[in-house]
Amino acid sequence: MKDYLEIKTLLVEGLLEEFPQAEGDEAEAVVSHWLQASQNKIPFLTDSIRNYFEKEISNFLPSTHKNMVNESEGFYQFKLPINWKSIPYPPPKNPLFNFIDLFAGIGGFRLAMQNQNGKCVFSCEWDSYAKKTYETNFGEIPFGDIRKIDELEIPDHDVLCAGFPCQPFSLAGVSARNSRNTAHGFACETQGTLFFDIARIVEAKKPKVLFLENVRNIVNHDKGKTFSIIKSTIESLGYNFSYKVVDASPLVPQKRVRTYMVCTPKNMPEFSFPEIQGEPLPLKSILEDVVDESFTISDRLWEGHQRRTRNNLSRGTGFTAFCADIEKPSNTIVARYGKDGKECLIPQKESNPRMLTPRECARLQGFPEPFIIPVAKTAAYRQFGNSVAVPVVTEIAKAIVAYLDICKGK
Ligand SMILES: C[S@@+](CC[C@H](N)C(=O)[O-])C[C@H]1O[C@@H](n2cnc3c(N)ncnc32)[C@H](O)[C@@H]1O
Repeated sequence: MKDYLEIKTLLVEGLLEEFPQAEGDEAEAVVSHWLQASQNKIPFLTDSIRNYFEKEISNFLPSTHKNMVNESEGFYQFKLPINWKSIPYPPPKNPLFNFIDLFAGIGGFRLAMQNQNGKCVFSCEWDSYAKKTYETNFGEIPFGDIRKIDELEIPDHDVLCAGFPCQPFSLAGVSARNSRNTAHGFACETQGTLFFDIARIVEAKKPKVLFLENVRNIVNHDKGKTFSIIKSTIESLGYNFSYKVVDASPLVPQKRVRTYMVCTPKNMPEFSFPEIQGEPLPLKSILEDVVDESFTISDRLWEGHQRRTRNNLSRGTGFTAFCADIEKPSNTIVARYGKDGKECLIPQKESNPRMLTPRECARLQGFPEPFIIPVAKTAAYRQFGNSVAVPVVTEIAKAIVAYLDICKGK
């Protein structure tokens, strides 16, 4: 039996030779999506490429299975001769429901949904480093720019998951953009409009549930106008719109307050969010015992942090960098954390404070230990800063699965 990576590489090489018109990046996404769910609709996958894959894969099938090669139902999904052992989170064998993972990042949603026995049938993410982390852990390469994907080529799904890009809506994004006098929110062509890519997919595919995540401030952005456009757009597509602002700190040792939205068809009951309460967890619970010196910040950086903190405190504005209190949850880890670590510096007895390690950032977001971090630390900090708190998404995912059960009975 061939390992996932080996078989994927063979098919991608063959695909590019046989069909030179296939684009390199998307060819990998096509092959890996096919290996996960060959019977599904897959963007850019023509009938002739599908036939080519089936012919190629038959070379790897044990002879007893050769006569089953053309069976359409179920065969490839579970019986392709692929060894998923090198992949920590392979597709589930007997899924209860399926979902798509838009703006997938490193798969925080996917982890939570797969844990509930959900099967991902389509993912998209355009950052090549995030794609690498995603593939290493899930054995699938997401498609790239969502704006280039025809919604009709996306397979049917029960749940649409999307933590859509938050820069144009966050407080930091707004103030930086205001000061540069540039557009933000829906007026920002390249980022704000991505919400409308979600809307066009919803309109075409009508999933049973939409599960969205964004920054806390999306609720207040532009005096509430942005949020009201999101709500009314979703309602106009035939959905109830429920949302809740949740702090992750009872589940992970990090103050991370985010807006979660779950939308369900108008002819079905509204969704109720689970309660997420409890004492905040202490940062010390996720710290590594031994950390390399390279994570200790330099004298220059530490002096700069202290100087800016003093100036800002005296003016009563702006950034302050203190050492974290490890008995309490950390501040929110953001994508830029790797630049200077000011959101969370760990005090050390005999030297300057240190940055968190990428593994500690993974733990702060509730990623389990088997999750592989295959990228260098700058990319890893950005990826975990952008991601979701997996245990929060998991709690909401459990309630969504219970909701889907109710739908089945209706
Ligand atoms: C807030 S992050 C989502 C992180 C994700 N929920 C996770 O658990 O890791 C938004 C992601 O959208 C991606 N993105 C932005 N614009 C995109 C586009 N046009 N097409 C595909 N992905 C895009 C970014 O690279 C980023 O990783």
